[in-house]
Amino acid sequence: MPLTLMQGDIAAQRADVIVTAANAQLAGGGGVDGVIHRAAGPDLLRAIRALGGTPTGTAVLTPAFGLERQGVRAVVHAVGPIWRGGHAGEADLLAGAYRRSVELAVQAGHHSIAFPAISTGVYGYPLERAADVTLRTLRAAVAEHPELDIRVVLYDRGTLNVFERALVRLDSG
Ligand code: APR
Repeated sequence: MPLTLMQGDIAAQRADVIVTAANAQLAGGGGVDGVIHRAAGPDLLRAIRALGGTPTGTAVLTPAFGLERQGVRAVVHAVGPIWRGGHAGEADLLAGAYRRSVELAVQAGHHSIAFPAISTGVYGYPLERAADVTLRTLRAAVAEHPELDIRVVLYDRGTLNVFERALVRLDSG
C-alpha cells in the first residue's frame, strides 16, 4: 500500500489510527493536538493523563473515543523533538516518533494511519528537514509493512508543496 501526501484537517480523516503531535508530559496541547482533542472529547485527555508521560521520540496509543463516530479506532500520541539547532539528536528523535507510532498501530492490528507533520509547529523543526526525515522514515515503514496505508495530512498548501518536493528528492536520490 502507498505512502500518500494530502492537504486537509487530520481530525476529519477516516483512518484506523490518527496520530497527534503530543508533548512528553502527555498533558494535552494546542495546535493539531488541540484540534484532535476537541474532536475526540474529554475522555481522550483523561486517558493520556492517566499514562503520565512518554519520552521524546516515542509514542503511546489510546482509544479514539469520540473519533470512533467517523471510523477511527485508535489515537497515537507521538512526541517529536523541540528543534534546538539540529545537533541535539533531533532527526533521530523525530524518526523515532514516527517509527514507534507505526509499530504501535501494527501491533494493534490496524492498517491505515494518518500523520500530521510532527514537530513542525510550536516545536519549530524546519519544514524541509522535517519533511526529509518524515518521508524517509515512513518510506521504510511501508517497505517493511506493505499492508499499511500511510497518509501524511498537511494543513496548508505550502506545507504540502514542501513535502511533495521532499518526496521527489527522496525518489530521485
Ligand atoms: N490537521 C493537520 N495538521 C495540522 C492541523 C490540522 N487540523 N492543525 C495544525 N496542523 C499542523 C501544523 O501546521 C504543524 O505543521 O500540525 C503541525 C504540527 O504542529 P503542532 O501542533 O504545533 O505540533 P508540534 O510542533 O509537534 O508541537 C507539539 O505543541 O500542542 C502542543 O502539546 C503539544 O507541546 C506539544 C507541542
